[in-house]
Amino acid sequence: MKEVCIRKNQIYEVEIIDNGFEGEGIAKIDGFTVFIPNAIKGEKVRIKILKVLSSHAFAKIEEFIEKSDYRESLDCDTYLKCGGCAMRHINYEKTLEIKRNAVLSIFKKQGLNVNVKETIGMEKPYYYRNKLQYPLGIDNNGNAVMGVFAQRSHRVIQTEKCLIQNEMIQEIATGIFNFIKEKNVPVYNEVKRNGQIRHLVLRIGLKTNEVMVTIVSNEEEIKCEKELVDFIKEKYKNVKTIVKNINSSSTNVILGKKNVILFGNGYIYDELLGFKFKISPMSFYQVNPIQTEILYSKAIQEAELSGEETVFDLYCGIGTIGICASNRIKKLYGIETIPEAIEDAKKNASINNIENSEFFVGDVEKALPEFISRNHVNADVIFVDPPRKGCDKTAIETILNIEPKKVVYVSCNPATLARDLKVFSTKYEIKEITPVDMFPFTSHVECVAVLILKNDKI
Ligand SMILES: C[S@@+](CC[C@H](N)C(=O)[O-])C[C@H]1O[C@@H](n2cnc3c(N)ncnc32)[C@H](O)[C@@H]1O
Repeated sequence: MKEVCIRKNQIYEVEIIDNGFEGEGIAKIDGFTVFIPNAIKGEKVRIKILKVLSSHAFAKIEEFIEKSDYRESLDCDTYLKCGGCAMRHINYEKTLEIKRNAVLSIFKKQGLNVNVKETIGMEKPYYYRNKLQYPLGIDNNGNAVMGVFAQRSHRVIQTEKCLIQNEMIQEIATGIFNFIKEKNVPVYNEVKRNGQIRHLVLRIGLKTNEVMVTIVSNEEEIKCEKELVDFIKEKYKNVKTIVKNINSSSTNVILGKKNVILFGNGYIYDELLGFKFKISPMSFYQVNPIQTEILYSKAIQEAELSGEETVFDLYCGIGTIGICASNRIKKLYGIETIPEAIEDAKKNASINNIENSEFFVGDVEKALPEFISRNHVNADVIFVDPPRKGCDKTAIETILNIEPKKVVYVSCNPATLARDLKVFSTKYEIKEITPVDMFPFTSHVECVAVLILKNDKI
């Protein structure tokens, strides 16, 4: 192996040969890989080495020698400090290509030669997030701050405008924070582990304009709680419910287990593809509703349902995928681990007059094999939409034993998707993968993968 003599603080002139999954530029120095944030493929830059590891190094740009035609001027003041977006310096269409290439290369590494379609982007990739979750903290001068965390840190950057956040909930969050400051409501101090308000979490139903405010508190009692609730109710008529969530743990998890409803019903509604959905504070709901309709339509279209199928919606959340497909299904079963989400899913079936569905609380890896062996049900089509860590091995083994004609795998993490599809590929042909840009300008991408039971297995 070639000896590498790259050292910290050395300066090099390099050409960026590729963009990595997080939008970072990649260069080679004597065959050694260097990652350079904020650099675009094709650019020539002078860099300073910041850190050298055994297989790669990190560097920062000192000077641009030749800029890419895809470079965009920055439209956000906090972009270079914030941990949210990763590609605002790149032309949007180009980011879609980068995301597709990243998916392709992850599958290649798994030895899977797959048909990855063009990434489906947004017409207007701004203000798309229907969920805002801002930490509150204390700055170096002892002042309360609310906003986004700085990259790889827990320092809060004051944020009043975020270009990917729905504008109405952004405005309401700012109003609530100003009230908290004015009344000296104690903000949580992560180091001392004292104080009260840890996070503000706001959700909006894009089609209904209903807003849910969740105030995450370290303590059961919040100073000026009644005044705070009255202020929100009076000033922001779109707020349909206010929930206090108690979280006194020392973890990074935003929501604690206990919710106290301070105003309204404790939930809001939204609509997707003509179906109405109840959303509670603990339930997962996709954060980009415009792209969600595209994602679900693609997943449902690829399932090619005739109305005669028994379908499982695994990791179903509040039942959205199955319910959106319910009028083309004979019988729908949904499994999800969060009890509140299953309560929402049952209610969602009922408000949409869906009578062919059953939803169960459980971990897919345990609940699915148990359900199948107890009820001798056969599945024709299975939708899976697991969290970032992907499907559990037992869950995949069970699906491989059931042998549905089709599996439509919706994934927010191409790395675990590729790992899982490698296992599925023993029995399933991977027809195609469609990346959908659910999170424009961030490093994330959602994918719909269509798996068809191989002929010799039928
Ligand atoms: C990416 S979300 C998808 C939810 C839903 N399909 C949607 O589009 O809104 C993944 C869901 O899986 C649930 N989940 C996580 N681990 C699980 C497990 N082992 N078994 C069942 N559900 C799980 C989470 O609570 C979450 O609701």
